[in-house]
Amino acid sequence: MEKKPFLNLEKAQEIAKEIPTPFHIYDEKGIRENARALNEAFSWNKGYREYFAVKATPNPYLMQILSEEGCGMDCSSYTELELCKACGISGTDIMFSSNVTPVEDMKLAYDMGAYINLDDYTHVDFIKKVCGVPKTICCRYNPGGVFELAGSEDKVQVMDTPGDSKYGMTEEQMEKAFIELKEAGAEDFGIHAFLASNTVSNEYYPELAGILFELAVRLKKKTGVHIKFINLSGGVGVDYKPEEPKSDIKYIGEGVRKKFEKILVPEGMGDVEIYTELGRYMLAPFGAIVAKAIHEKHIYKEYIGLDACAANLMRPAMYGSYHHITVLGKENEPCDHMYDVTGGLCENNDKFAIDRMLPKIDIGDLIYIHDTGAHGFSMGYNYNGKLRSAEVLLKEDGSFKMIRRAETSKDYFSTFDFSEFKF
Ligand SMILES: Cc1ncc(COP(=O)(O)O)c(C=O)c1O
Repeated sequence: MEKKPFLNLEKAQEIAKEIPTPFHIYDEKGIRENARALNEAFSWNKGYREYFAVKATPNPYLMQILSEEGCGMDCSSYTELELCKACGISGTDIMFSSNVTPVEDMKLAYDMGAYINLDDYTHVDFIKKVCGVPKTICCRYNPGGVFELAGSEDKVQVMDTPGDSKYGMTEEQMEKAFIELKEAGAEDFGIHAFLASNTVSNEYYPELAGILFELAVRLKKKTGVHIKFINLSGGVGVDYKPEEPKSDIKYIGEGVRKKFEKILVPEGMGDVEIYTELGRYMLAPFGAIVAKAIHEKHIYKEYIGLDACAANLMRPAMYGSYHHITVLGKENEPCDHMYDVTGGLCENNDKFAIDRMLPKIDIGDLIYIHDTGAHGFSMGYNYNGKLRSAEVLLKEDGSFKMIRRAETSKDYFSTFDFSEFKF
């Protein structure tokens, strides 16, 4: 089974003439169409809003595109807040979902008027001391235990262990937090939870929504607060492997609506706004790395070495993640060669693919690594003195624009004290 790249060999060659490989490239048309479909799927909820998880792809050009499509931004740090500021995004167009939050970060989020999502019960006192309690405040929930969602044929499709995760508060803590925050002046409340990542089941969001809606009803009854929004956070997955099903966002939106009508509406809570905080679903399929095959090696296995490495895409090294590979221009050739496709880091896990069947690769071939648009560039690092690549936007009209230049060694050295060393 093949996955189709959003650019062909000719386009990749045209871009590579101006912007040397490797580079990350993003597909504006795909991004916009996907954001519109998401908004449509949740349009039954009057206050619905997607707050794009900036950490997934912190590039102002992409943030601006999503902002034009009606998205707010979810920030997790001071720098991400500053990035929003630079894009002219502030106030309740920002959700601040952080953990182990430094004082300065909390202050900036407060000063920018962002919705603040408290990760822990101790953060109630912390926010009181640091900046005061805003009118609207959100708390992050952790139900503990194991989150299991059985798919068809008794196959567990989603499983995660909130009980082992560092995020969020227990229900008792949520209750105490709401009461204390209300006493300190908060008028509107939000509830947030992120229980599983990259889910391939369309039932994840509806199931999570059910848990949070029931919690909201209990908290409202016990504390008397007004629940303004419920943030389903991230976690809707993408089909990294060609044989995986695509998430059906229309079905997912409809599943959440059914839970909303069953649980919240009868309690007089039909005004609750639904928010999402998706990263991967918004951008992963609409980003790719274009790299060049620069070496081959024949020892106990067959290796192809690229000019990209794990410093450009850490997911395979970090989680053993699968990213599909297309050899541009050889889409119709038989996949009759088995390769490990590697980068040049001095780490044996620097492999984009292991034992992958691909067409015969020649030195100079352009290699397209799929689905790198989220948690790709942003997880990059500088190990071995490797430099971060450029980012390119493939615009709707087919033209392209560099939206971040590649790092140079000057950038790498820029944090040293130049008065003491000569570079
Ligand atoms: C608080 C929070 N919200 C949203 C996201 C986005 O998750 P995803 O990209 O899986 O949708 C993350 C990812 O780490 C997160 O930590």
